[in-house]
Amino acid sequence: MNNLSVDHLTGIRDLTNEDIQLIFKMADSFKDVINRPIKKVPSLRDITIANLFFENSTRTRLSFELAEKRLSADIVNFSASSSSVKKGETLIDTVNNILSMKVDMVVMRHPNPGAAHFLSQRISAKVINAGDGTHEHPTQALLDAYSIREELGDVSGKKVVIVGDILHSRVALSNIYCLKKLGAEVMVCGPTTLIPKHIADLGVRVSHNLKEALAWCDVANMLRIQLERQEINFFPSLREYSMLFGLNKQLLDSLDKRIIVMHPGPINRGVEITSEVADSDQSIILNQVENGVAIRMAIIYLLASKIER
Ligand code: CP
Repeated sequence: MNNLSVDHLTGIRDLTNEDIQLIFKMADSFKDVINRPIKKVPSLRDITIANLFFENSTRTRLSFELAEKRLSADIVNFSASSSSVKKGETLIDTVNNILSMKVDMVVMRHPNPGAAHFLSQRISAKVINAGDGTHEHPTQALLDAYSIREELGDVSGKKVVIVGDILHSRVALSNIYCLKKLGAEVMVCGPTTLIPKHIADLGVRVSHNLKEALAWCDVANMLRIQLERQEINFFPSLREYSMLFGLNKQLLDSLDKRIIVMHPGPINRGVEITSEVADSDQSIILNQVENGVAIRMAIIYLLASKIER
């Protein structure tokens, strides 16, 4: 297979195992490109991409922008905080105005779950979801799984625990879909209040004991506590959260095996992970960031190949 089964990337839920393998294969080639002295290919010289960010971002935004530049696409950047959205313009009006400037692809981060899907049903341009509220963050999950594959050779059969604020996390949901499709075993671990009630229906294990979860896993993906999405207090204090669910060197060293530590960023150092662990040789946090560019190049390239030119 050399084409994706989907026309847009709105969520991992819509992808097949073959789609993910194709994205990884393409990312392998693009990783070679970005490690060359000339880190650029002319593949998308005729494509214009709009990056629409209605929510803050550092990694995802820079990574998409770099991926687009490495593919030689033309780019327009839009940030909600400095746009006419502040004057009451709707999402569809904003996007239609941008599309009338002949844009072929839209990369969008939006606070509302389903916003990327909504857009993909209403515009002719290809849509890539760069995170929609608490729903999905598909490119993050793909780069996470790709980084596990790079580190451990394969994702299938590996045990991955996702620790922390599962309730508010689009990264957790996309990771669960992606890892399960690739044949990994998945566990979620955190305080009862931050684990959705029916999460086990997705075929994942649930633990409320970090030490036990770490003893089980090959990989620990430590999520950020999303204070900005918590209207009520889901745990008594950050200090207590950190004591029960924070990953520190002592915990890592108490295991009788070497596990890999991941974090999608941004990190709350000293809350979900200590600096000593984040900066240790067991951490692949910066590899994740590096792989993000190759993964996003692969997705943009594959979706662009479906544009009628
Ligand atoms: N991992 C992630 O989505 O980070 P940003 O919010 O900085 O894009």
